[in-house]
Amino acid sequence: MDNKRIIIAIDGHSSCGKSTFAKTIAARLGYIFIDTGAMYRAVTLYALEHGAIRSGIADEDMIVSMLDDIDIQFRFNSERGASDIYVNGDLVECKIRTIEVSNCVSAVSSIGEVRRRLVALQQHMGQKRGIVMDGRDIGTVVFPDAELKIYMTADAMVRAERRYKELTAKGDKVTLEEIYENVVSRDKADMTRAISPLRKADDALVLDNSTMSVEEQMAWFMERYEEIIKR
Ligand code: DC
Repeated sequence: MDNKRIIIAIDGHSSCGKSTFAKTIAARLGYIFIDTGAMYRAVTLYALEHGAIRSGIADEDMIVSMLDDIDIQFRFNSERGASDIYVNGDLVECKIRTIEVSNCVSAVSSIGEVRRRLVALQQHMGQKRGIVMDGRDIGTVVFPDAELKIYMTADAMVRAERRYKELTAKGDKVTLEEIYENVVSRDKADMTRAISPLRKADDALVLDNSTMSVEEQMAWFMERYEEIIKR
């Protein structure tokens, strides 16, 4: 059974460490890790750079008409131990993490055609299984048949503080208040949007990591993983 390769779907609120958790799982199991939030951010960045979002307003028709021009690829970066995202051959891993992109990504990710395209791409990436994918709709829409589904959450202020530390460490000039507002407004947008809102799949396990270290989360995960792989 050791070589049984499964799909691990990780959904949950923004900034609760889904990607760090998913990346650590993938490294431990030798699985591929896909950060689907990065894909929505990449489309948002392209739209911002090509005039389809002006003064924070997204022009849906223009964004949809651009989709054929956006080629998204992940390439493994051995230094980081994870894949970097490229748009039309350009490395955009850093550019997609700015507060400007964060503030516009909810509008872009609520466009039905954007979701349809990205979901198809994600399903294609997971065809061979042996994948850990994190996002908002992985266990509900992208891979409803995933063998292991995890729904992650953490207190909103704890999440804001974590993201604040990450951004200020990179030299970004941001305040904790604006990050907190962004976290709360994205939670609301993600959970109330008409298409594929964030919700816990009925068969997902809940992981609240407000007070857990990555090691504790991994111990929690490995116990559940071993159980599933034995079935
Ligand atoms: O995980 P993240 O915060 O980088 O995701 C960025 C945004 O993309 C988030 O506000 C919601 C959206 N998203 C989504 O709608 N569906 C996904 N599967 C992943 C992210």
